[in-house]
Amino acid sequence: MIIMGIESSCDETSVSIVEDSRKILSNIIFSQIDIHKIYGGVVPEIASREHIKAINYVAKQALEEAGKTFNDIELIAVTKGPGLVGALLVGMSFAKGVSAALDIPIIGVNHMEGHICANYLQYKELEPPFISLVVSGGHSYLVDVKSYTDYHVIGRTRDDAAGESFDKVSRALGLGYPGGPAIQKASEKGNSEAIDFPRVMLEKDSYDFSFSGLKTAVLNYLNKEKMAGREINPFDVAASFQASVNDVLVSKSVRLAKEKQRDKFVLSGGVAANRDLRNRLTEELNELGIKVYYPEMSLCTDNAAMIASAGYYNYVKYGADTLKVNVIPNLGLEKE
Ligand code: KG4
Ligand code: ZN
Repeated sequence: MIIMGIESSCDETSVSIVEDSRKILSNIIFSQIDIHKIYGGVVPEIASREHIKAINYVAKQALEEAGKTFNDIELIAVTKGPGLVGALLVGMSFAKGVSAALDIPIIGVNHMEGHICANYLQYKELEPPFISLVVSGGHSYLVDVKSYTDYHVIGRTRDDAAGESFDKVSRALGLGYPGGPAIQKASEKGNSEAIDFPRVMLEKDSYDFSFSGLKTAVLNYLNKEKMAGREINPFDVAASFQASVNDVLVSKSVRLAKEKQRDKFVLSGGVAANRDLRNRLTEELNELGIKVYYPEMSLCTDNAAMIASAGYYNYVKYGADTLKVNVIPNLGLEKE
């Protein structure tokens, strides 16, 4: 089955052609990062307008690179949420237009499910069940992935997402947007033990996350040092902050992997690009005999190939949507 994936939930316009669930024929990603950078974060109205300008060209290029035409497409998989409503609507309207005009089945896809499925594109042998840590700019989940379409959410963030905390701390340090790569780079020159930021674990048995206290602790530290007239070492702050986030993510992931006794662990979402997080999870879980998977950089952050893959599995299980399918900006990961 030849699938066209369409992704426009945030600041990447992406169209991909994928064969079945695992073979990428093309994956075109037009990033708006340079446009939003000057504002220090994504401006929703600008994101929607940029998606409108880009989507036709991105789709055309995806078809060309795959050596296909619209007539070859057998399923359109489009992100329906979670994400920015105006941005989501651009991809959804485009998908509906193509579906209606050419009579191609359409399916709305959960963006976070897509992040997990990014791993299937890279690891042809990977099959559920496994535990997944899904960490992006807007969401953080610890999930028991029971099958290709059955997700049991065990932990979630109660306030800021992991990626959001990277973005906010980066902004406070003047390191720019997006924060994750900037903090990672700065951390390499810093001492992760220089400042003792809190590790918020919540209740003893909880798998939930809370990162807003850590962000406040970093802001308070920066203010206090400035008031005292002391010079701030941004590299030490970045490294100590990153160590705090990753300590929490790794310790909860390892505890859950042990409890559920799954032999596979899958890291996904934009924060899965973090080298320290990848290395530490791999080291600690391998010691327990658990195999760790994470996508290559271009499949960690937003892309339409992962949406096509998730679309395939949902289509096989549930069939297509009708043209009444719509965007759901606050869509959760667990199916009702
Ligand atoms: O999945 P994604 O591309 O978009 C959303 O669905 O939100 O994730 C973007 C997030 C941003 O918060 C960005 O700062 C973070 O992923 N990120 C990273 C790294 N690269 C991207 N966080 C930590 N370390 C990185 N290397
Ligand atoms: Zn994402």
